[in-house]
Amino acid sequence: MTTPLPISLFHFLLLITSICFTICDANSNLLCIQSEREALLKFKNHLIDPSNRLSSWVEGGDCCKWIGVVCHNSTGHVHQLQLAAPPPVDFAEWDAYRQSKLEGKINPSLLELKHLSTLDLSNNNFSSIHIPKFFGLLESLTYLNLSQAQFQGAIPHNLGNLSKLQYLDLGGNDLKSKSLQWVSGLSSLQYLDLHYANLHKATDWVQVTLKLPSLLELHLSGCGLQNDPSPISVNSSKSLVVLDLSGNSLSSVPKWIFSLHGLVSIYLSGSSLVGPIPDYFGNTSFLELLDLSWNYLNSSIPNSLYSLNRLQFLRLSQNQLQGTISSAIGNLSSVTHLDVSENQLNGTFPLSFGRLESLETLDCGYNLLEGVVSETHFYNLTRLTTLAASQNRLRFEPNSSWIPPFQCERIELGHWHLGPKFPQWLKFQKNLSYLDISDAGISDVMPTWFLNLPTRFEYLNLSSNQLRGEISYLNVSNFVDLCSNRFIGPLPRVLPTLKFLILSNNSFSGSLFELLCNSSSRMEVLYIDKNLISGDIPDCFNHWQDLEILNLGSNNLIGKIPPSLWHLNLTMLNLRNNRMFGELPSTLQNSPYLVILDLSENHFSGSIPAWIGDKLSNLVILSLRSNNFDGHIPHKICDLQFLQNLDLARNNISGVIPKCFNNFSAMATTNKTNKEVHGLSWNLYGDSFSLSAILVLKGREDKYGSILGLVTSMDLSTNSLIGEIPKEIASLVGLLSLNFSGNLLTGNIPDSIGNMELMESLDLSMNRLIGEIPPSFSNLNFLNHFNVSYNNLTGQIPTSTQLQSFENLSYMGNHLCGPPLTMNCTSKGIPTYIANNGSSSEGSKVNWLYVSIVLGFVMGFWAVVAPLFFIRSCSIAYYRKLDHICGKLYVF
Ligand SMILES: *[C@@H]1O[C@H](CO)[C@@H](O)[C@H](O)[C@H]1NC(C)=O
Ligand SMILES: *[C@@H]1O[C@H](CO)[C@@H](O)[C@H](O)[C@H]1NC(C)=O
Ligand SMILES: *[C@@H]1O[C@H](CO)[C@@H](O)[C@H](O)[C@H]1NC(C)=O
Ligand SMILES: *[C@@H]1O[C@H](CO)[C@@H](O)[C@H](O)[C@H]1NC(C)=O
Ligand SMILES: *[C@@H]1O[C@H](CO)[C@@H](O)[C@H](O)[C@H]1NC(C)=O
Ligand SMILES: *[C@@H]1O[C@H](CO)[C@@H](O)[C@H](O)[C@H]1NC(C)=O
Ligand SMILES: *[C@@H]1O[C@H](CO)[C@@H](O)[C@H](O)[C@H]1NC(C)=O
Ligand SMILES: *[C@@H]1O[C@H](CO)[C@@H](O)[C@H](O)[C@H]1NC(C)=O
Ligand SMILES: *[C@@H]1O[C@H](CO)[C@@H](O)[C@H](O)[C@H]1NC(C)=O
Repeated sequence: MTTPLPISLFHFLLLITSICFTICDANSNLLCIQSEREALLKFKNHLIDPSNRLSSWVEGGDCCKWIGVVCHNSTGHVHQLQLAAPPPVDFAEWDAYRQSKLEGKINPSLLELKHLSTLDLSNNNFSSIHIPKFFGLLESLTYLNLSQAQFQGAIPHNLGNLSKLQYLDLGGNDLKSKSLQWVSGLSSLQYLDLHYANLHKATDWVQVTLKLPSLLELHLSGCGLQNDPSPISVNSSKSLVVLDLSGNSLSSVPKWIFSLHGLVSIYLSGSSLVGPIPDYFGNTSFLELLDLSWNYLNSSIPNSLYSLNRLQFLRLSQNQLQGTISSAIGNLSSVTHLDVSENQLNGTFPLSFGRLESLETLDCGYNLLEGVVSETHFYNLTRLTTLAASQNRLRFEPNSSWIPPFQCERIELGHWHLGPKFPQWLKFQKNLSYLDISDAGISDVMPTWFLNLPTRFEYLNLSSNQLRGEISYLNVSNFVDLCSNRFIGPLPRVLPTLKFLILSNNSFSGSLFELLCNSSSRMEVLYIDKNLISGDIPDCFNHWQDLEILNLGSNNLIGKIPPSLWHLNLTMLNLRNNRMFGELPSTLQNSPYLVILDLSENHFSGSIPAWIGDKLSNLVILSLRSNNFDGHIPHKICDLQFLQNLDLARNNISGVIPKCFNNFSAMATTNKTNKEVHGLSWNLYGDSFSLSAILVLKGREDKYGSILGLVTSMDLSTNSLIGEIPKEIASLVGLLSLNFSGNLLTGNIPDSIGNMELMESLDLSMNRLIGEIPPSFSNLNFLNHFNVSYNNLTGQIPTSTQLQSFENLSYMGNHLCGPPLTMNCTSKGIPTYIANNGSSSEGSKVNWLYVSIVLGFVMGFWAVVAPLFFIRSCSIAYYRKLDHICGKLYVF
């Protein structure tokens, strides 16, 4: 008789629970309207919700408490659907963010929400569906945000029926519209964002949008818009406050902008604007923000700009502006951000900068400003946090007791003249985390107070000065460049977070042990080349997983390559000019990402392994020059499709030149741009960096940086190669330099070599070649270094502008005749005597300028490349400018 009790208790509890449910449900029904709840559930059922973000949306629940749902607090009608995917705060959240995106279909059940005024589906992923047409029936909508939600196709014109709509944000989707006529129905619209929609064909865009009576903000960046040249009456659109037309093809600043007197913000960056900055900005007197960066504007800064005394943000960078910065700039009393970098402004650094009390960020870098900067220039700049003015010809030597009125976080004064003493005023910068005072004429002992500053730098560039002394510790978290100074003593200790360490071209000595073995490291880039480091490379790379670029060239290193180095995924390994030895280990196969491998000028030996062709398939530069390698050249090497520079010179390599060399496709194209060469450049802090390499061309070592990707060469000289020169070599029509000299090659010179029309340097000297110089050689119009001396060539030298311009030395030791030799040919083309050998070798001197002109000619952007051709300073070429300019050229 004990069992019934629990059963009845159970029933009782069940009853209580069901009563409770009924009551709760009744309570919630006060708010959530059943038909709307069902509509929402139906809507949910057609969505894909990978992260279960809508887990609160369940049958029977109070839909007004569901996530993303906002009901009216008295009527209970659903008023808002806030279903934007929450954006990630940092990179680590990226995966979670992707997961949180809703996908799938949008069910018309939403039409049941008669009072819906806000619909936000932004940041989700409705990939490949169109914006549903029924949205045009959601009559109560005042806010519709579908931005960045992967919608595609034409924008439904019936959205124009939403006459209550105040905010319409469709930006960042893959949409298009042939006309914007539908927008004219949106009579309440205050905010319109269609950025990235293709409106190329919507030539009515100005007429329609400017007639909207309430419009405050218009965002049409990246829409393929062109200027509407027809006269426009903009009477109705006095209200417009924000206008964003950046990233279009406007070609000039639209005149109608200046009749919008209420404008506060104008974004016209990257809009292909050419010609002068118009002088009408004085009309837009409420202007607080003006962005004209990334265009082709080529005037001076018009005076009307200086009268905009409400302006807070002015960006004119990345243009071709000329002339001086007027002292009237001091009138911009509200300006907080001023960016006039990268153009061609000249004249002085105006004293009136000192009046800009509100200034927080000043960027005038990469101009032609010159003269002396004094303490007065900074007098009132108490709020300055960023002073970026590198690459001008300015001199700043304040009184040694000067205390700056500002506390900067970022100071960039590279290329200024700040020396010879180390700038004492930096002592007072308590918040400094980014400092570039490279190439600043500082010739001083590194002050200990600087190394002991309490702040931790993120970025420190002191390169190309004449700083002396030892550095025991670098308190820098991310990037250090100390190259080309006179530092001595052991390598400094660094923070484990450091990613870039560049110590090239100093006199650091001692071993690598402390740096490599005593800590784990996040280092990605390590340059210690051109120092006095000795001993062997310790086998401690197991904790250096992130290392990609390693340059230890030109030190006094001995020993073998440590095995742990091959456990990394290196992009570049440079050990050139040391005293290392040993064979190339098979573990080198574990470095498939190598783009540059330079082991030249050591004592490495053994044969060149065949697997190089398979396993190091990304190689662009392979230099094994001046070692003791022997054996044959393996045919597999021909699989290196990206290889542009092959240097096996000065070894003991024997056998024949493989016919398959014509497979080097990167050498066989005449049509390449620097950008296509993978792995040679990467980004940091908005600057591009390019890998550099030392190449031997025309008997001369030079360092190539930003244009490395354009250089192609093959040097097999001074080995023991036999057989004929394969005629297939002539397929490598992109080759600029070819050197087979000092081998045992026999037979005729293939006639086809005359087809290698880009060839600038050709050296076949000191072989056993016979026959004539092929007449096709007269096609080699860019040849400026040529040597076929000491073979067994006969006959007349073909006639061309180039071949006759070389000295006798290029031809001597043969049986050649005709100009430029003084020996005349007989009627059979046979000389009677070999001419004099008395002249100097001046004629064979390298004229790389010429080469580059040819390159530029061929590649079409010489003018851009020229100033950056050789790397003057350090191990890596900073070419932020180059990238930008090239970007512009592409646009053109
Ligand atoms: C309802 O909302 C309005 C405006 O949001 C607010 O003023 C009012 O106090 C709310 N009423 C209740 C009962 O919460
Ligand atoms: C969107 O979804 C598609 C298909 O599921 C997927 O291929 C794509 O990567 C997603 N895009 C984003 C930005 O999440
Ligand atoms: C639309 O949503 C995006 C992303 O959630 C947001 O950044 C943007 O400001 C919203 N647009 C409007 C007009 O509120
Ligand atoms: C600035 O450059 C212009 C040419 O762009 C030149 O005419 C002018 O003399 C230069 N001014 C100064 C101060 O160097
Ligand atoms: C600093 O500001 C004050 C007040 O605006 C002004 O009188 C003075 O001339 C300014 N000093 C400099 C050097 O510009
Ligand atoms: C190198 O790359 C491979 C394949 O991409 C990866 O499996 C391996 O973990 C990487 N090694 C290091 C040290 O990062
Ligand atoms: C250059 O190469 C690109 C592909 O990389 C090709 O589209 C273009 O037609 C080529 N141009 C010439 C002149 O061969
Ligand atoms: C040069 O070539 C001729 C044939 O053209 C040959 O008779 C002669 O032996 C060769 N001389 C040398 C040194 O190889
Ligand atoms: C070569 O021929 C020219 C005329 O054709 C003559 O003037 C010159 O003296 C000759 N030179 C020699 C070295 O025979």
